[in-house]
Amino acid sequence: MSEIVLVTGGAGFIGAPTVARLLDAGHEVVVVDNFSVGSLERLAPLRRHKALDIVELDLRDAKGTAVAVGEIGARSVIHLAAHHFIPFCKAHPADTIDVNVGGTQHLLDALVPVAPERVLFASTADVYAAAPFPHVETDPTEPDNIYGMSKLMGERLMQFHSERAPKTDVVNVRFFNAVGPGETNPHLVPDILDHVRAGDELPLGNTDTRRDYVHTEDMAEALARLLGGPDGSFTVNLGTGVSWDATDIVHFMAQLLDRTLVINTDPAKVRRSDRQNLQASARRLEMLLPGFRTKSLRETLASTLSAEGFALAPAAVPA
Ligand SMILES: NC(=O)c1ccc[n+]([C@@H]2O[C@H](COP(=O)([O-])OP(=O)(O)OC[C@H]3O[C@@H](n4cnc5c(N)ncnc54)[C@H](O)[C@@H]3O)[C@@H](O)[C@H]2O)c1
Repeated sequence: MSEIVLVTGGAGFIGAPTVARLLDAGHEVVVVDNFSVGSLERLAPLRRHKALDIVELDLRDAKGTAVAVGEIGARSVIHLAAHHFIPFCKAHPADTIDVNVGGTQHLLDALVPVAPERVLFASTADVYAAAPFPHVETDPTEPDNIYGMSKLMGERLMQFHSERAPKTDVVNVRFFNAVGPGETNPHLVPDILDHVRAGDELPLGNTDTRRDYVHTEDMAEALARLLGGPDGSFTVNLGTGVSWDATDIVHFMAQLLDRTLVINTDPAKVRRSDRQNLQASARRLEMLLPGFRTKSLRETLASTLSAEGFALAPAAVPA
């Protein structure tokens, strides 16, 4: 059987480090992406790898997807391609359903004759009903926006697929908030970085909402390891188990850069329907991947700042 891993959305923010990790682990990788948000440049450092192939394809094109995915003939699949930025999704609900639900079903249809051993689906913490405590995978789901709804539908499509194609295990991976260099969408951390580049005053929106921030390298590592098992179909959170708010992020950045950073609330950026806390229970992930450890937020921010070209204060760099 083919050893190929097909990564949809492999030219994106989480996709590029995932592809790098898979290549490092010795996999052959085929990236499928329409480059609407991701880009070839993100994969430029990896293009010398003979084991990497890149296919430009829009998953909304059912026929094109059937042909390309049939030719690739992957042994396993990581399905990351999606519309992901929530304000965009809210403003473009039909397009969001088209890509996140229709595109997912086109991919699954194309995978029936291929019968890969495993498909990992990039779901989201946004599928959960809002709660102040860490989410376990059995918690009730109740997305409060079109993006979360599209991902919950994607999870269900995965379950239906495992009934239709019983040789394929499906793993719904509920990602919490990704952090790392080169973020594609204007989330909180890239917004803070832009302001930190410009000066010490940071006009931010909600500063007290708490999120569980995971380095994209840790996401890539977890995905690479989940490809290898354990067998069966299941759902798992991909989070650190700890939540932080914007003031914590700014506090760590100030320490790491040895600067005095001041937050000014910008009313135009305050989101009304924000969840107060979105935090994973990481127990299932830790049980499934013994020894797997996520970076602390401070480590994640130090690595992100360095990769983004900031000079860390000497005291912040480990001896
Ligand atoms: N970034 C996060 O914090 C986060 C959190 C939860 C879940 N996720 C999920 O993880 C996945 C990856 O997220 P990301 O942050 O890397 O996003 P991203 O926007 O950087 O990557 C998505 C990739 O999919 C591609 N794409 C979009 N529509 C496509 C289509 N119709 N056909 C083919 N390719 C298409 C884009 O060009 C891009 O390269 C997404 O499914 C997202 O919903 C991300």
